[in-house]
Amino acid sequence: QEGASMKQDEMKASAASAALAYIEPRLGRESIIGIGTGSTANYFIDALAEIKHKFDATVASSEASADRLRNHGLTVLELNAASEVAVYVDGADEVDPNRALIKGGGGALTREKIVAASADEFVCIVDESKMVPVLGSFPLPVEVAPFARPVGRGP
Ligand code: A5P
Repeated sequence: QEGASMKQDEMKASAASAALAYIEPRLGRESIIGIGTGSTANYFIDALAEIKHKFDATVASSEASADRLRNHGLTVLELNAASEVAVYVDGADEVDPNRALIKGGGGALTREKIVAASADEFVCIVDESKMVPVLGSFPLPVEVAPFARPVGRGP
């Protein structure tokens, strides 16, 4: 079991470095990168820190990712302050043969969808354990958007 999870960590790290290799030549000094949430995204954040002089800033899909980015000395902007998000990089919970995804296992459903929709390109980083014939086994959390709690309360 321990060996299997070590192998999966290696696969996550390798997916993250493949994403870095893909985006690096596309970055300019003004580029803003959208960052997802989860253990695979964490590997990407750690790899991205190595090239922090090659782009401007990041936008994060969760506070956990924003903290990790800041701990690496990377600039984290509010989406409202980002002129253009060149690319959004995030993991997924399940991927089917048509590349349809289940996402949201990290609990950042709404925020990550908004950041992803704002980006020019979405790069999804998954290891092979995420590949499934049919979507639907992964348990997803229900997100409560704090500002919307009163909506749906009875009279
Ligand atoms: C975030 O809410 C999710 O969409 C993540 O992409 C997902 O949970 C991936 O997490 P791991 O990389 O830890 O598997």
